[in-house]
Amino acid sequence: MGFNVAIDGPAGAGKSTIAKLVAAEEGLVYVDTGAMYRGLAVYFLGLGISAEETDRLAAACREVTMEIGYAGSVQQVYVNGENITGRLREESVGNMASRCAAVPAVRECLLDLQRRLAKTQNVIMDGRDIGTCVLPQADLKIFLTASVETRARRRYLELKEKGVACDLEEIAADIRERDERDSTRKTAPLKQAADAVLIDSSDLSIEEVVAVIASLCREKRKTPN
Ligand code: CDP
Repeated sequence: MGFNVAIDGPAGAGKSTIAKLVAAEEGLVYVDTGAMYRGLAVYFLGLGISAEETDRLAAACREVTMEIGYAGSVQQVYVNGENITGRLREESVGNMASRCAAVPAVRECLLDLQRRLAKTQNVIMDGRDIGTCVLPQADLKIFLTASVETRARRRYLELKEKGVACDLEEIAADIRERDERDSTRKTAPLKQAADAVLIDSSDLSIEEVVAVIASLCREKRKTPN
């Protein structure tokens, strides 16, 4: 088993930014599980399947192969051998990912791959259910959150910087909707693990959050579970 760090939390909490920086500092491989759900969403959209057609989703999952690779430190997602990383951040893909992530067969399809990656290397893995379901034995679990207002503002600034026209209120509404869907679904809902360290980043800088997690990593490596 590698040294495993789980980071869970709601949309826009900054998990991927933080996880990438901690990975670089602590020599861990960053595994973005949201990108895997997004990868399956690209595949389902290509097949013309909607998130409500659960039988078709399950059948499609039985046919698909997913692999994760790295270009430098940037995670690449391969679906049936094709690198679809460039499409992952599309709005329609994010929506489909969030909807189909509630379907048990879809979650099942990714579980094995996620566990295999954590077994063979030292990882920091981010998602919604890493500390509770995927890696319940993780050496360190973090639940990273922030207020809806803060998360919406961060997304808004990120999109504006990319030159994407957007509305702060619409982003906040979308975040509330995702929070609701992620935390109320029956399978693997978003939930803080009992042994996770809670970090509310509303009033913390990226550097401050990274410093806290990196120091927890070093502590755990000295005195493993
Ligand atoms: O960018 P955002 O935080 O909205 O999402 P993401 O981390 O890229 O993940 C896309 C979607 O997949 C999320 O909206 C979640 O509903 C779902 N997801 C999940 O259910 N479990 C995970 N371990 C990771 C993502």
